Amino acid sequence: MPLLMPVILGSVRSDRQGVKAARFITRSLESRGCEAPVVDPLELNLPLLDRMYKEYHKGEAPEVLERLAELFRRADAFVVVSGEYNHGIPPGLSNTLDHFLEEYFWRPSAIVCYSGGRFGGVRAAMQLRAMLCELGTPSIPSLLPIPEIGTALTVDGDPEMPWLDKAASRFVDELVWYAEALRRQRTGGTPY
Ligand SMILES: Cc1cc2nc3c(=O)[nH]c(=O)nc-3n(C[C@H](O)[C@H](O)[C@H](O)COP(=O)(O)O)c2cc1C
Repeated sequence: MPLLMPVILGSVRSDRQGVKAARFITRSLESRGCEAPVVDPLELNLPLLDRMYKEYHKGEAPEVLERLAELFRRADAFVVVSGEYNHGIPPGLSNTLDHFLEEYFWRPSAIVCYSGGRFGGVRAAMQLRAMLCELGTPSIPSLLPIPEIGTALTVDGDPEMPWLDKAASRFVDELVWYAEALRRQRTGGTPY
């Protein structure tokens, strides 16, 4: 069974650059044999948080949340693609993540961060790391920061910087290791 790793995209702006980073990491994951469906809150027209998925009575959650919950329950890891807005997590990303909780548990996550500038979104990534931990999907040690996203990747998500493929390959190696380890461990049950 291939590892299933939803790629959660956090920007909903019409001129967003984040789709390029999502395309890039999705291809890297697929080239390692992983399934990497993109979760795009803009395409899904994900509502602003009213009730969390678990707060709906069974069968009464909006269909989009039902579909995402089903995907997340089958997932082995989550790849979170985050820009940096005012040194923090983009609101579209925290809105997307906040709809769920138990669906993330006992699975690792990995952060692909980016920004228009030189720092590659790492300040937002530090906050995101704390948030993912609280959600029950601790992030792997490495980040994949993409600085100068405007020119680092083409519209199709092909790298213009030669080092990006190597960095992504190491990052995916690490994530696959954690995802396989926790998948094995989940087969023996979870504490709750
Ligand atoms: C509201 C807002 C705040 C931003 N704040 C930062 C910032 O703190 N640091 C930074 O490096 N870039 C910042 N930027 C520039 C973003 O890194 C750049 O626009 C990036 O493309 C945003 O991701 P997106 O296009 O996928 O939405 C900001 C952009 C926006 C729209």
